[in-house]
Amino acid sequence: MKITTKINLLTTAWMLCILILTNFLVFFLFMKNTVTMDENMLFQKSKDIMAEIHLNQSSSQMEETLRDSLTEHSFIRVIGPKNKVILHETNDKLLSKKIKGKYTTKKQTQTHIIFAEHGEEQVLVVRVPIKNGTNFKGSLEIAERLQGLEARRELLRVILISSTVIAAFLSLLGGRWLANMIMRPISNMIHTMEDIEKSGVPKTISIQDNTKDELQTMAKTFNRMIARLQLNIEKQRQFVSDASHELKTPLTVIKSYANLLRRHGLKNKKMTDEAIAAIHLEATRIQKMTETFLDLAELENETLLETDQFDLVSLCKSIIKQFKQVYKREISFHYKENQILMDGDELKIKQVIIILLDNAIKYSNEKIDVFLEGHENQVLVRVKDYGIGIPEDEIQHIFERFYRVDKARSRETGGSGLGLPIAKSIMNLHKGEINLISTQGEGTEVILRFSQKNNLLK
Ligand SMILES: Nc1ncnc2c1ncn2[C@@H]1O[C@H](COP(=O)(O)OP(=O)(O)OP(=O)(O)O)[C@@H](O)[C@H]1O
Ligand SMILES: [Mg+2]
Repeated sequence: MKITTKINLLTTAWMLCILILTNFLVFFLFMKNTVTMDENMLFQKSKDIMAEIHLNQSSSQMEETLRDSLTEHSFIRVIGPKNKVILHETNDKLLSKKIKGKYTTKKQTQTHIIFAEHGEEQVLVVRVPIKNGTNFKGSLEIAERLQGLEARRELLRVILISSTVIAAFLSLLGGRWLANMIMRPISNMIHTMEDIEKSGVPKTISIQDNTKDELQTMAKTFNRMIARLQLNIEKQRQFVSDASHELKTPLTVIKSYANLLRRHGLKNKKMTDEAIAAIHLEATRIQKMTETFLDLAELENETLLETDQFDLVSLCKSIIKQFKQVYKREISFHYKENQILMDGDELKIKQVIIILLDNAIKYSNEKIDVFLEGHENQVLVRVKDYGIGIPEDEIQHIFERFYRVDKARSRETGGSGLGLPIAKSIMNLHKGEINLISTQGEGTEVILRFSQKNNLLK
């Protein structure tokens, strides 16, 4: 069953329940009130009669008083002890026959149901003792068919039933309108999702009015999610196209050297050596590049780090020691604290520092300075070189994937333009920052900034 139909039926059923309940209440109260009013009228009449009859009246005079007080379809009796009917005036024989006289010493009200000419009918009987100062023992009994009440009850029943039917119909219409209004954005979303499913292309939903309700929030969230998806798809597409473009150059070199070897065989020793060396170099480059691609893909998927506490001072010392041994370059380490403990992924932070030192070595020939500073609320790692630097207008692109300032030189140095983007991703995962300051011809400084939460100074 559609959700709109469900909402519609449920609201109508609920509305009907409320209506039926209130109608019963109205009906019951109305009937009760009307009978009470009739009852009061009969008591008032009994009072009036008693005021008129005094017992020294002759019975014919008393009978006349009673007769004058008769209303339509009623009787008035004076009853003595042992239910003896002393006087009886009536204009409704059937009523007199059905209701037996009853002596009472207390005020009394009774309702009877009799089977009259047109079916069941209610009769109201009131009895009051006659007290007029004498020792006469008797009671006055007045009975009246409640014909008006029957008619009013019928009318009320018709009104209540027809108003319930009309209300149920209106509620069905209103519920339908309400359900449609609520479901419109959801239906929109379903259609868009079906479109996405069919075409495989993420699409956003059009939001017409600015109602700021939950449904609009849902639609906006959906659109944000789709926008992120589109961005990711775009990034992925870009990455695949960039990566294949990057792989093309070394593969072309390998292919042309392989062709050369195929054509000329291994006759020319010099050429053969050159070809094998070139093929080896390019294959190594491809291998390194694919490793980097995998690194980057892994970082993209990671949202939570497996962190541990480690000492940044000893980490920097060990990396610098290795670099000095391998590259035989002058690298100075400047630090004040003997230990700076921080929470993070040690291997990944190590990778960032290696990326920066690798660049400093590749793009400079002078000495390199590494500064480690622990402040109250942050830790800074600065890697500074005095090399070729980066032109001002290129700095903004430096963290983009595959971006290299001097492609020819980078090829010489074996760079693929993925070092800094990887470093940035790792810093993002650590909620840290990476900034680069550079002046062409003077040198470059890269600053890593870790926030206070990550570190504990010792
Ligand atoms: N210290 C630096 N001095 C001068 N230029 C730099 C420095 N660091 C980076 N660059 C420039 O920024 C570009 C991007 O650096 P990145 O580390 O991302 O890639 P890469 O070094 O070319 O290759 P990879 O690091 O992937 O081997 C480099 O090609 C280079 O032109
Ligand atoms: Mg690099």
